[in-house]
Amino acid sequence: NVYLVPYSTYRDYEYQDGLYQKYLKTDTQANVDTYSARPGHSEHQTGLAIDIRSSSHWYTLTDADYEWMKKNCYKYGFIIRYPKDNSTITGYKEEPWHLRYIGIEHATKVTELGITYDEYYDLYFKEY
Ligand code: DAL
Ligand code: ZN
Repeated sequence: NVYLVPYSTYRDYEYQDGLYQKYLKTDTQANVDTYSARPGHSEHQTGLAIDIRSSSHWYTLTDADYEWMKKNCYKYGFIIRYPKDNSTITGYKEEPWHLRYIGIEHATKVTELGITYDEYYDLYFKEY
């Protein structure tokens, strides 16, 4: 009973630029930076991010679908990239719909540890 629809996947620089400029018409840059990546800085430009919505919603997930997603997306190599209450770490407000592909091995670890990808990257990949 979970019906998920992909609605934004790969974006090129021009597309991300268009989105960002569109938000800037009605919002301050400081605010836009909390929910939209600047052109050249979006994971969507890598092809590794995908926005998913419930079939009944325009751009987000029902609570039930989000619960399913949080529990199961690691099995397919995806993580919830911008979880709730972590904007000081990730740089962005909560985005239930935004999944990031990092492969099953790493997605499993991130999910088991219950941390953001930023923290995971800092712990396991970053060289000091
Ligand atoms: N909304 C996410 C942060 C992006 O623009 O890539
Ligand atoms: Zn996204």
